[in-house]
Amino acid sequence: MQPLRIGIAGLGTVAQGVLDLLKDNGELIAQRAGRPIQVAAVASRTAKDVDLLGGAFSNDVLGLVSRNDVDVVLELIGGEGIALELVEASLAAGRPVVTANKAILAGYGQRLFAAAHANNTALGIEASVAGGIPIIGSLSSGLAANEIESIAGIINGTCNYILTAMASEGAAFDDALANAQALGYAEADPTFDVGGIDAAHKLTILSALAFGTPLDKEAVHIEGIEDITLQDIKDAEALGYTIKHLGIARRTDKGIEARVHPTLVPQDVLIANVNGVMNAVAVWGNATGNTLYYGPGAGGAATASAVLADVVAIARGQSHLEFDGVVREDRWVPIQDVVSAAYLRIPVVDEPGVFARIATILGDHGISIEGAIQRERAIQNRQVPISVVTQPVLEADMLDAVRALGELPVVVGPVRRLRVDHLDG
Ligand code: HSE
Repeated sequence: MQPLRIGIAGLGTVAQGVLDLLKDNGELIAQRAGRPIQVAAVASRTAKDVDLLGGAFSNDVLGLVSRNDVDVVLELIGGEGIALELVEASLAAGRPVVTANKAILAGYGQRLFAAAHANNTALGIEASVAGGIPIIGSLSSGLAANEIESIAGIINGTCNYILTAMASEGAAFDDALANAQALGYAEADPTFDVGGIDAAHKLTILSALAFGTPLDKEAVHIEGIEDITLQDIKDAEALGYTIKHLGIARRTDKGIEARVHPTLVPQDVLIANVNGVMNAVAVWGNATGNTLYYGPGAGGAATASAVLADVVAIARGQSHLEFDGVVREDRWVPIQDVVSAAYLRIPVVDEPGVFARIATILGDHGISIEGAIQRERAIQNRQVPISVVTQPVLEADMLDAVRALGELPVVVGPVRRLRVDHLDG
């Protein structure tokens, strides 16, 4: 059989993972693909002392497209700029592309898939979401017979690594982030991770696959984990919750809501126990009910597994991989119209009647209290935090209530609000 000849763009964590995996599992991969996978060329701005498995090295990334010994381009550079240029040039030339680049897919995916279809070639994106978890294939193939109701999951390994380190070791945020970077989990610009942008890119892709929404990253409401404190984590624990950074996309009568934010989840749901770099994505299908996909969400080997899965599919002759790019639902629900339960921490003066005043404000806004505690004794100046978990409430009403609470004379500092989700569909 003719080998499938790949050209690899980039020589970072993922590209090195691909080279290592081809070296270790090359024979098995060739059997499954029906033909050997051969590294014809590797292009990167800077050379590195790694085994290129016989691939010719060059600094000319775009040059991969014009080489006649490259059958498939693997775009493993990341970011926009030259990575986007390479993918567009390759698709325009009718050459299949495999990419791990969620940023270009979430930003320009609509036109990239259109180009792939117009040029009758493949665009493989399994590696773009949740690292080693085959979530793209699961949504596009395994669950193809389902109407998808909702998706909720941990889709940024760096955030989960940091939150886990804070919760289990009391680690400082910056130290945990530095470790995640050293382990090769974080983006080149780690604010994409901790600011929720990477998760939003991934949710954009999942939503397109699940609901047929356009690949429009602007539609996702984004909150990161930069403001999460050890105090938040301890308070959540005391109430029976764990704080996770979640991506949630849900079908409603008014369209699709899509948001990424720190979320209190009950300690006894599976996702609450997904730790470190591991990701987990729950998908509710109308035939399957709840399904859950768990695995490493970042790192060279795990992501390389997903990249090479697409290479194998192309070697087997699949011309259009996961996604047809057709928009079937373009109504997005603005965040003000999203309904979600909330956790509130309200610093108050410790005196009779305070709790009643808080309950009145919440009641006036139609907000039901699910649970409330005043855990600590007054620490100084007779001040104490009251923690409340509410029933699901409209975002706009919750913001009004938080504003009104802040105006109460007995409330002596900013009201902390985090969302709560019981992950029940
Ligand atoms: N920086 C990403 C993460 C890598 O931490 O999940 C995988 O996309």
